[in-house]
Amino acid sequence: MNIPILDLKGQAKELEEVLMPKIREWFLSGGYIGGEHVKTLEKDLEKYLNVKHAITVGNGTDALVIALRACNIKENDEVITTPFSFFATSEAIASVGAKPVYVDIKEDTFVIDEEKIEKHITSKTKAIMPVHIFGHPCNLDKIYEIANKYNLAVIEDACQAIGSKYNEKMIGSCSEKVKKSITCFSFFPTKNLGACGDAGLITTNNDELDIIMRALKEHAGGQMGMQAKSILEGKDGEEEITDVDPLYNPYKYYNYLIGYNSRMDSIQAIILGEKLKHLDKYNSRRNEIATFYKNSFKEISGLIMPKVEDNVYHCFHQFALKTQYKKELNKFLIDNGVSNAEFYPVPLHLQKALLYLGYKEGDFPVAEKVCTETICLPVFPDLNQEQLDYIALKVKEFYEKKGN
Ligand SMILES: Cc1ncc(COP(=O)(O)O)c(C=O)c1O
Repeated sequence: MNIPILDLKGQAKELEEVLMPKIREWFLSGGYIGGEHVKTLEKDLEKYLNVKHAITVGNGTDALVIALRACNIKENDEVITTPFSFFATSEAIASVGAKPVYVDIKEDTFVIDEEKIEKHITSKTKAIMPVHIFGHPCNLDKIYEIANKYNLAVIEDACQAIGSKYNEKMIGSCSEKVKKSITCFSFFPTKNLGACGDAGLITTNNDELDIIMRALKEHAGGQMGMQAKSILEGKDGEEEITDVDPLYNPYKYYNYLIGYNSRMDSIQAIILGEKLKHLDKYNSRRNEIATFYKNSFKEISGLIMPKVEDNVYHCFHQFALKTQYKKELNKFLIDNGVSNAEFYPVPLHLQKALLYLGYKEGDFPVAEKVCTETICLPVFPDLNQEQLDYIALKVKEFYEKKGN
């Protein structure tokens, strides 16, 4: 049997009947970027995530960059983050000129160790960027508390965590207590809510940040660009249109900040809007699969299951096991037709692109150890029982050979 790490064909088939007429209508409409479909998706996501503003963007990386820019984070600023994530988390920080400052992770849930954050705060620290890695939420109570104490922004990288909850609250609903609280999502096709191309989202309850981010995602032009600039410069954002400069009236093609082209295609909004209706079902199936694996492997002492804290709902974007036999198990499963993934082989502080930060091996021992031990099994919603039984059988077979 051959089992891929992810198969989206089942989902596509399920949605074909309802989506195809919409896609046809979209094609014939002549309107391909932004517009009503995007606005509707933003409203639907605001409702689903229980947040005031949902701002669609081109992808999750842009979401992080735009969020950082909206918090005015730039050269010489420091952003506290995790060494265990997809590269884009650190890349976004570095691309605005700031320095990623790493804090080690917790070995059982793989998220940033909130107890270690405070000692890394300096006068240059401007934000914390925690990552809800694999869909397991970070300890937000503590992170928001620290952010309040030191007046820091919190930009949550929830690219893998759509549908997860912390203390019953949706990830993405953002803090009401932290002034600059933003959450970023990716709708890359492999994500729990995946587009048919690149797409992303930013959420916040802060009206000013909403204006800045909406401006930045579209070249910061026009009236919104003007407002964004005045907010960033510490004015109230309601700046007069004085028209003192007859050559510079604040409408389209008049730009106020260096922004981005990060709009969502309307076809992605149509697809995401339909998939959103099924997201809770997809996530609960992922949880069922995780429970199946946990029950199947409970007798295997050398195989460590992912922990789920009591106060969270985990969307299981990945099901990551820890094993001392990572390479061998990976090969054995591949040889037996079971795809599996190595998230992540290298901690961010040891990525070649980030060596200029000056970190070295041994700086974050937990993240380094986890990188040598984690192996992710298929956990996509369409896995059937026959496939799951086969995966479990093969993992058990491997451990039997090891004498477990
Ligand atoms: C944790 C994390 N951050 C950021 C990103 C970047 O998202 P995108 O690929 O949509 O730019 C991803 C996506 O893979 C991710 O998993």
